[in-house]
Amino acid sequence: MSNTYKKLAVLGHPIAQSKSPLIHEYWIKKYGVEGAYGAIDIHPDDLEKDFGALITEGYTGLNVTAPHKETIRKYCDYFDDAAYEIGAVNTLHIKDDKLHGSNTDAYGFAMNLETSFPDFNWTKGPAVILGAGGAARAVAFALKEKNVPVMKICNRTIFKASNIAADMGGFVMPWEERREAIKNCNLLINTTSLGMVGKDSLDMKLDVLPHDAVVYDLVYAPLMTPFLLDAEARGNKVVTGIGMLLYQAQKAFETWYGILPDVDEDLRKIVLQ
Ligand code: ATR
Repeated sequence: MSNTYKKLAVLGHPIAQSKSPLIHEYWIKKYGVEGAYGAIDIHPDDLEKDFGALITEGYTGLNVTAPHKETIRKYCDYFDDAAYEIGAVNTLHIKDDKLHGSNTDAYGFAMNLETSFPDFNWTKGPAVILGAGGAARAVAFALKEKNVPVMKICNRTIFKASNIAADMGGFVMPWEERREAIKNCNLLINTTSLGMVGKDSLDMKLDVLPHDAVVYDLVYAPLMTPFLLDAEARGNKVVTGIGMLLYQAQKAFETWYGILPDVDEDLRKIVLQ
C-alpha cells in the first residue's frame, strides 16, 4: 500500500449524476489515505483534444464511464484480461507515464451476487441475459469466467446479441422468445435500461421461471424495479443493481491504493440517498 497523494476522477459525458465521487471520497476518508476524487465531463468530440492534457495534469487514476469506455482503449498501453475481452475500460491507472486499462464491471457483477447469496452455484444451470449493450458484455464475461454451463442472450437487436455470443460463447434468443428462454434457468439478469426511472418498464413474464432461480437487475434507480418485485412476489431470490456499482468501485480503489475497501452499510445508505 502506498499513501502518496492520488489525483483521481471519473470521466464521462454527462457526469453530474455519477455516484463514483461519493463512493471513493467515502473510502479515502475512511482509510485515511491521501487523495481527492473529482468528476470530469468531456464531450466525445473533445476527447482527442482534451484527454492528453488531462493526463499531463498528474492523475493517478480515472474511472471511465459512458460514452468513453470503448474509445478510451486507444490511449492505453496495457490492458487486463477483462478489459481486453470485454472491449471496454472502466478503470485507468497511470504509472510511470503508462496507461493501464482495466475493467472491474464483471468483478462488480459477480461480487454483488456472491456477497448477496454466498451459496449461489454458478454452474448449476443456464443463465439468461436480457440485453446486449455494454453492460451485457461485462456480464457475459463474468458468466464465462464462472463456467456457467449455458448462456442465452436475448436482445431486441439480434446482431448485438450475436456479437457477444460469438466473443464469449452462448446462444442468441430473439427478444420475442424471452419467456421461453428462462424455462430452466438458474440465473436471469436484466442488463437493459428498461425499468429505470424515466424509461419504459421491462415486459417480462416470469410464469415459467424455476422458483429457485436468482433474478438480478442491473438497474438500481429504483432499487427494487417492478421486474424484481414480480420475481420476489413469486419466491425467487433477487439481487439489486446497486452492489455492482459499489463492487466495481471496490476493485478500482484497490488498483490505485492497494487496499480492498469494505462495502459497508453506511456507504450503501450514502449512495442510495
Ligand atoms: P449499457 O451500456 O448500459 O448496456 P446500452 O449499450 O445503451 O447501455 O444498452 C441498452 C440495452 O437495453 C440494449 O440491449 C437495448 O437493446 P437494443 O440493443 O435493441 O437497443 C436495450 N433496450 C433499450 N430499450 C429497449 C426496449 N424498449 N426494448 C428492448 N430492449 C431495449
